[in-house]
Amino acid sequence: MKRKTIIIWSLILTSLVFFGFTSVNTYFDISKEDVDLKIPKGFPKPIYKFKNNKLSPDVFVLGRELFYDPILSKDSTTSCASCHQRIAAFGHIDHALSHGINGLIGKRNVPALQNLIWKDAFMWDGGVNHLEVQPLSPITNPIEMNESIADIIVKLRHTDHYVRDFKKAFGDTLISSERILKSLAQFTGLMITANSRYDKYMNGSDTFSVVEKRGLELFRQKCAACHKEPLFTDNSYRNNGIKPDSSLKDKGRGAITGLESDDYKFKVPGLRNVEITYPYMHDGRFRNLTQVMDHYASPERFSGSVSKEMYGIGKLTAQDKKDIIAFLRTLTDKSFIYDRRFVDPSVK
Ligand code: HEC
Ligand code: HEC
Repeated sequence: MKRKTIIIWSLILTSLVFFGFTSVNTYFDISKEDVDLKIPKGFPKPIYKFKNNKLSPDVFVLGRELFYDPILSKDSTTSCASCHQRIAAFGHIDHALSHGINGLIGKRNVPALQNLIWKDAFMWDGGVNHLEVQPLSPITNPIEMNESIADIIVKLRHTDHYVRDFKKAFGDTLISSERILKSLAQFTGLMITANSRYDKYMNGSDTFSVVEKRGLELFRQKCAACHKEPLFTDNSYRNNGIKPDSSLKDKGRGAITGLESDDYKFKVPGLRNVEITYPYMHDGRFRNLTQVMDHYASPERFSGSVSKEMYGIGKLTAQDKKDIIAFLRTLTDKSFIYDRRFVDPSVK
């Protein structure tokens, strides 16, 4: 063979070997660093500290597997991710009320899943107070996944890759509710968003337009009493004046505490990524931020036991509303939505 042909052939062979190796997909690999808990600058101490649930790549990977697997529902149609969509910051964009198994419709809007380790309680009414216990509610709810943990354990035991994955994560093949719940908590607990344009503006690495700056000022005067920075919630329950929906009969916090004074109060939602978590409010009644702003600007429409801070909002001009919306859009965190760690591993 001529020298030139030899060179060409060896180039072809080397590239075949090279591409052969790189076709092993490393996109879904999770390293120790990927599960390193980094508290963003300016954030308070988290409430859920992974104390008896030490973060580990293999436990996180198992949690991700379970989150995206419809096996957790009775008829294997509905996964956590069916309702909590990554592109909507793990909320659900096109439905006002959640859709579960057999096309059944729930009574509340799917909230975004983000910065959960700073929440003292979950759900719109705070009815669940521990991140690890939280998934039991959708799993057993007849209109969500309608399944029991006991059945899930049986199904997982009969799935070879889960037997391997539990062993990898916990050292032996025991599949228990505790392990299922802990791994889900690692996956959802690391859903931390703190890299929006707002965060970059706050740390000096980005600038705001005049409109966005004005929006932030107005927000601090009128909204921050409840939507407190940097999480954009003070974790309290308030009535923000929306009229109760007579068909849903949802008393919110009142149904949990039994106190009439808590009726129609809901947990103040953190507003990060709010641009992409529409529709809005516990029942998804507002389709867009303009409708939300029209509500806040109309005190004459506030319902009965509205929280007194609502009257601090006062008049909002058309320009004020636009400016506040422009500011709210700076809370979108693309690096969170497109974070490789949270992508559905079954797409590989
Ligand atoms: C049928 C749709 C549906 C499914 C499936 C579902 N969820 Fe949810 N999720 C919701 C709704 C609706 C809420 C709010 C419920 C409420 O306020 O009563 C919620 C609330 C939550 C919350 C609390 C968020 C907060 O900020 O308070 C977490 C965490 C959560 N879900 C995780 C999960 C996990 C993990 C799974 C899978 C095991 C799951 N969800 C399955 C619809 C769903
Ligand atoms: C009195 C406390 C309070 C004040 C003041 C307040 N909010 Fe809210 N906000 C709430 C509560 C509570 C909810 C959830 C209500 C519900 O779902 O029933 C909410 C919901 C929202 C939502 C919907 C979020 C979602 O995920 O569905 C947006 C957007 C919002 N507020 C923006 C604002 C803006 C902008 C201002 C200032 C003009 C403001 N809020 C002032 C308490 C407050």
